[in-house]
Amino acid sequence: MSQSIETVLTEDRSFPPSDEFRGAARLADRSTYEQMWRRSIDDPEGFFGEVARELPWLEPFTSVLDWSGAPVARWFDGGKLNVSHVCLDQHVEAGRGDEVALIWEGEPGDERTFTYAELLAEVCRFANVLKARGVSKGDRVAIYMPMIPEAAMAMLACARIGAIHSVVFGGFSAQSLTDRIEDGGCTAVITADGGWRRGSILALKDAVDEAVQDQAQVHTVLCVRRTEQAVAWSEGRDVWLHEALDGVSDECAPEPMDAEDVLFLLYTSGSTGKPKGIVHTTGGYIVGAYLSTRYVFDLRPGDTYWCTADVGWITGHSYIVYGPLANGARMVMYEGAPNAPHEGRFWELCEKHRVSIFYTAPTAIRAFMKWGDAHVEKYDLSSLRLLGTVGEPINPAAWIWYREKVGGSRCPIVDTWWQTETGSIMLTPLPGMSATKPGSAMTPFFGVDAAILDEEGNEVGHGEGGLLAIRRPWPSMLRGIWGDEERYHDTYWSRWDGRYYMAGDGARRDADGNFWIMGRVDDVLNVSGHRLSTMEVESALVSHEGVVEAAVVARPDDLTGEAIVAFVIPTDEVADDGGLALGVLLKAHVAAEIGKLARPAEIRVSPRLPKTRSGKIMRRLLRAIAAGEEIRQDTTTLEDPTILDELRTGVKA
Ligand code: WTA
Repeated sequence: MSQSIETVLTEDRSFPPSDEFRGAARLADRSTYEQMWRRSIDDPEGFFGEVARELPWLEPFTSVLDWSGAPVARWFDGGKLNVSHVCLDQHVEAGRGDEVALIWEGEPGDERTFTYAELLAEVCRFANVLKARGVSKGDRVAIYMPMIPEAAMAMLACARIGAIHSVVFGGFSAQSLTDRIEDGGCTAVITADGGWRRGSILALKDAVDEAVQDQAQVHTVLCVRRTEQAVAWSEGRDVWLHEALDGVSDECAPEPMDAEDVLFLLYTSGSTGKPKGIVHTTGGYIVGAYLSTRYVFDLRPGDTYWCTADVGWITGHSYIVYGPLANGARMVMYEGAPNAPHEGRFWELCEKHRVSIFYTAPTAIRAFMKWGDAHVEKYDLSSLRLLGTVGEPINPAAWIWYREKVGGSRCPIVDTWWQTETGSIMLTPLPGMSATKPGSAMTPFFGVDAAILDEEGNEVGHGEGGLLAIRRPWPSMLRGIWGDEERYHDTYWSRWDGRYYMAGDGARRDADGNFWIMGRVDDVLNVSGHRLSTMEVESALVSHEGVVEAAVVARPDDLTGEAIVAFVIPTDEVADDGGLALGVLLKAHVAAEIGKLARPAEIRVSPRLPKTRSGKIMRRLLRAIAAGEEIRQDTTTLEDPTILDELRTGVKA
């Protein structure tokens, strides 16, 4: 059976950067890109050796890449460095200590600003507290924090002493935290009493107390005071950070780390099974984060950069903390939700801090669209010059809205495809060069040798969909799954006998060679023998004015093998008929837009969709609901579990 995925979506619009943008861009023409990309593939030693030498090493590396232990790569062997030194000390030593590193806003409106010199001092003090508590090189430390400056400081403090951090998203339950603490063998936890979320307190310390109950190896819970409500206290184990910092030195020599020493673990749930602790190491990771931040965001002096992710996700690691700081950027960090205290909060902050580069997720963009243009139009967004998205395929309608309403039709959009596992951006436009197409992640980044394959490992032709694969190691690639080497091989390298990394996403290239991500391979629909991508059918649905967001899944069907079931969030309240009339319209609309084959057999209208806390739609749950099955799967990463009953009882058209 052919495993290629058919494409039914045609999107011909393309948007080159303005002459003004191109004129000042770091990389402005295709031939320079092609030359650099070619060299990064043909001569990775030369290319990445040079990039790596732009960073301060404590001891120089002796080799650039060793792939003899495939599929585990070694980059920059022999070299020693410290990521906190790369992110902080180098800028202070170069005389840029007074430049602003971090402008932070709390949800209630409080504000704190740190220069590079101040951030370095804070990180050193934090690191000294960890040391005094007996945390040392190689120990695992769980970080379970709100989006406050101390979250970034905690990560950098761990990096400074060589402890391995494992950040767990603050919205996860106590049970999820326990699972991750146990799997990683964490001996210390850094948390806060609470964090602000839509005006209420997220009780983080309470969750930690519950999570570590049976984790006897946890000797320290270091707690930042943020929300100031009463919390339970375990003498001996629990320590207030502000008390521990009293009288502590603001100097702490960075621990010289081998390039291949582990920098952090980050758990990713994948679609089934227990979460995987993705392992990232020091040298290759920081080179990847540094280089991609510089080129993809076209970072220049004078920019104010804001990535709206949470530090609990890889985006928060690579594009809030490590990449921007390694480049000496000035950035904004925000604690709260985009609609607290009002739906214009993000734009208010963009205006206030004169943000020039803004990076967010498609799920957020669709929410902004739903809330209405008025919230955006109220603010002066003329400081923006570049926009970015990450996390899921962005449908063209949302892309165009983002471009026009937020970017004033003037800012390029970088739609960046990558994964927790890849560590840094893999497919992306380069904003000074690319004539971007709505919904396309465009071109491979330096060092990325991407291909689209069929099941047997043959490359499919342009225009055909298949499995996205990467042919050779790149510096920031994962080095494994914590404690489970076999699963690392099985999940990523077994499909084509170790020759390619399998991303698990479907993709196609258009006639110009640009990449289009088609969604997770596990989600592909198979209607009458035609394999269709969820993303394309969803795009067609949301191109109808009555729909804000859509998710499609397949359910078994006697006639067609699988039939498409679409779950949609309507623009207006669900009508009295339960959405019946809208459903009929939408079926005809999809048939007209992309063909009868893709017409949903059933449409269910609902005010919400089940999402993970990072905003990804959980299609596996929708599949069970569509098939009328009992839900026996893990729902702990679901943002709001009550939604399942709502969806089960929805009206069908
Ligand atoms: C999806 C987030 C389409 C994809 C950095 C990938 C995307 C998964 C895009 C990784 C994009 C991420 N276009 N799909 N620009 N970016 N994805 O590990 O399915 O949270 O495999 O990393 O998100 O999610 P993760």
